Amino acid sequence: MTTTHQPSDKDRVVIFDTTLRDGEQSPGASMTLDEKLQVAEILDAMGVDIIEAGFPIASNGDFEAVCEIAKVTENSVIAGLARAIPADIDRAGEAVRHAKRGRIHTFVSTSPIHLQFQMNKTQEEVLEIINATVTRARNLIDDVEWSAMDATRTPIDYLCRCVEAAISCGATTINLPDTVGYSVPEEYRKMFEEIRARVPNADKAVFSVHCHDDLGLAVANSLAGVAGGARQIECTINGLGERAGNAALEEVVMALRTRHDVLPYTCGVDPVYLTRASKLVAAVSSFDVQYNKAIVGKNAFAHESGIHQDGMLKNSETYEIMRPEDVGVKATSLVMGKHSGRHAFKEKLADLGYELGDNAFQEAFRRFKDLADRKKHVYDEDIEALVSDEMATGSE
Ligand code: KIV
Ligand code: ZN
Repeated sequence: MTTTHQPSDKDRVVIFDTTLRDGEQSPGASMTLDEKLQVAEILDAMGVDIIEAGFPIASNGDFEAVCEIAKVTENSVIAGLARAIPADIDRAGEAVRHAKRGRIHTFVSTSPIHLQFQMNKTQEEVLEIINATVTRARNLIDDVEWSAMDATRTPIDYLCRCVEAAISCGATTINLPDTVGYSVPEEYRKMFEEIRARVPNADKAVFSVHCHDDLGLAVANSLAGVAGGARQIECTINGLGERAGNAALEEVVMALRTRHDVLPYTCGVDPVYLTRASKLVAAVSSFDVQYNKAIVGKNAFAHESGIHQDGMLKNSETYEIMRPEDVGVKATSLVMGKHSGRHAFKEKLADLGYELGDNAFQEAFRRFKDLADRKKHVYDEDIEALVSDEMATGSE
């Protein structure tokens, strides 16, 4: 007998988008207020649970952006980032108070290397900072997230003490970031399992993953963290973010949806918005999306090889695991090139309104292959020219 997994609340993963904060921190990706409002609007419409709208203390522009986004957002919680500094926390609180539901997200480094070189503080001093800053944030707002920056390079015993302190002071979400993209899935999953098992008040908070892509593992690590008990994923559209970027929202969402059999979690994002959101973020950040990017790349639903095109024409599931329309792409595209076969060429001719006799077809196909060897892109116009030529010669 097969048992079907019934999703319950405990399987629901909260999607926290940080395109407007960590994404915007990519060198060269800064956005205007109007652009940020457009991005926030689509994130809100697509069902993102939490939008991290900026870092209010960073500049007056960032503060204004968080306030404005907070005022107009209908559904999503609006988060503002704050270092573990009273002025940062107060500024974040001031910005998110305009939201229907606001969150202060405060963080401090916990790893030995950060404590020594960045903060020049002892572990005990950092624990005191956590107590003071989380308490301060919690006095301003009910929804407080605390992050242990560089958690994956922090000794687990100390990390447990930090997490326990943050929860005792009222943090409702605990984020354990892989700040430098150093972890691997198995290790990241175990970190969440161990922290949740060892910290006595762990059940009072939602655990969150936040992964950078320095080793290309951000999405895999995020999903592993969820398997380890995390129920919030921090991510960005197109994986925009510091250095190699953050976990890509579109990849996380489609992995959860496509592989529900082995990733039995749900999220509230409507994937049909993914392509539009990707195009918008690419345009406003001026960061082009690579052609072969999963889900939203130009080639994500394009096929050139003859074998693949033939398979696709018979049944799209031969070479596609997702339907393009599910992510807002009109249709699969069969790109005509030197790898295309007769089946796809015939379909293309039919699309363009041509029906050739057998000899003419074989000759047109031969000439198309010659052309494709010489040209990187074979456009419909090229094929039309070639066929008209063939028809003219054939009729002489
Ligand atoms: O990568 C990181 O550690 C961060 C924190 C501020 C959450 O972006
Ligand atoms: Zn980050």
